[in-house]
Amino acid sequence: MRKPVIAGNWKLYKTKDEALALIEELAPLVAGVDNVEIVVAPVFTVLPTLPAALAGTSISLAAQDVFWEEEGAFTGEVSPRMLLDAGASHVIIGHSERRQYFGETDQTANKKIKAALKGALVPIFCIGETLDAREAGDTFKVLERQVRGGLEGLTETQFAPVIIAYEPVWAIGTGKVATDEQAQEAHAFVRGVVARMFSKAAADKVRILYGGSVKPDNVKGLMASPDIDGALVGGASLKGASFASIVRYGE
Ligand code: G3P
Repeated sequence: MRKPVIAGNWKLYKTKDEALALIEELAPLVAGVDNVEIVVAPVFTVLPTLPAALAGTSISLAAQDVFWEEEGAFTGEVSPRMLLDAGASHVIIGHSERRQYFGETDQTANKKIKAALKGALVPIFCIGETLDAREAGDTFKVLERQVRGGLEGLTETQFAPVIIAYEPVWAIGTGKVATDEQAQEAHAFVRGVVARMFSKAAADKVRILYGGSVKPDNVKGLMASPDIDGALVGGASLKGASFASIVRYGE
């Protein structure tokens, strides 16, 4: 009942030409896939280049961040309206790398989610515990704080388009994927928090993606878990063949 989403976060990789080459490789490999939503997230400067290349494909375009003001004296920022103007339909918000290196907090993620929704962008809202938090037994406490903080003040209707991505920080770029059981446990917990914040219906509908060292050889196991509705893929999204085989995990 929940349509899976497989999203590629290209992080700080791919110039315009490299991005076009990747789409040229990827598009034919995922042609005809209609049971999975496919999203790619390049750097800001590449966004306007891609809509023409993606025309006729079912691949959607995401930005990797957004600011909460529409316009003004905010040097270096990009607003929801500008992302729409560049052809994006989705935006990643609150990624752990932004939390770690750029001062992102639950509160700034909350402002960005509200601005994205107001601007008709679909937020892909990232949460996840650090290794220290997991080892201290604080995983659920951290996840609950992040979910409640990031989604604070939204009505159930406003929340409806939001996609959540659970990315345990210790599994990002490390090759250490969470076990299917660890991921399922966290996803079920997050869905429970959504149910308590909004309703069971909202929790039943929200797509919760797993991120952290997803590869063609582990995606199937993860996707077999009842509360895992897709993947946010870093490294393995940078090659057409590996990303396509993640998209086609069900075949
Ligand atoms: O947002 C995706 C991500 O942080 C996971 O990266 O390289 O571990 O798949 P990676």
